[in-house]
Amino acid sequence: MKNITIAIDGFSSTGKSTVAKQVANHLGYVYVDSGAMYRAVTLYAMQNNFIDENHFDIEGLVSSLPEVNISFTFNKDLGFAEVYLNGKNVEKLIRTMEVSSFVSQVATIPEVRYQLVKQQQLLGKDVGVVMDGRDIGTVVFPYAELKIFMTASAEVRAERRFQELINRGDKVKYVDVLHNVQERDYIDSHRKDSPLVKAEDAIEIDNSNLTLDQQLEKVLQLVAMAIEDT
Ligand code: DC
Repeated sequence: MKNITIAIDGFSSTGKSTVAKQVANHLGYVYVDSGAMYRAVTLYAMQNNFIDENHFDIEGLVSSLPEVNISFTFNKDLGFAEVYLNGKNVEKLIRTMEVSSFVSQVATIPEVRYQLVKQQQLLGKDVGVVMDGRDIGTVVFPYAELKIFMTASAEVRAERRFQELINRGDKVKYVDVLHNVQERDYIDSHRKDSPLVKAEDAIEIDNSNLTLDQQLEKVLQLVAMAIEDT
């Protein structure tokens, strides 16, 4: 069967990563969480004092980008690839609220985007790939055979994210999570460089009222149709 490129874009916490991972496992494809890469650069910026609540040294971060090495290593037990920053597994560290509160700002920097997009294109070269993010169908893989745009209401997404953080043992308030989701929606869709927009040829799936199994079934149907069309 022909390998295709599957781009899944959408706002934060739409559950696209969960679906994308399952689709990739089902098809034996590579899965790439592009948001994890922006999160890893953000963690690097925080650890090296380029960003905090009071300042953001964009120039400093940009000039240090050659020292930022992001890689993925497949974890058999988890069934997906975990992200590494300069050789260190940062899968947990990049999911904190603190990283979430700075990542959209870091993702507005064109030099950061340029570097990560190049790496993402290499990760998806000559393989069957499922990549999720904000600009996968528009910028990273504009010729992807299948483009999906996931949506769900901000409240539904905040509730899912809130449960995820609580289950991890984080002490967070639902209103703060909702506020972060809304703020990131705004920044992600209003930035100058590669704002989050639905690609013209993307298929929209609103998963507010869909179970994970229903989403998986829907995406796999679309994959079968896309493969037939190629
Ligand atoms: O998918 P996520 O919530 O982990 O993404 C974190 C941030 O990274 C999100 O606020 C926007 C940014 N991002 C992006 O600009 N482009 C991508 N392809 C993926 C993520």
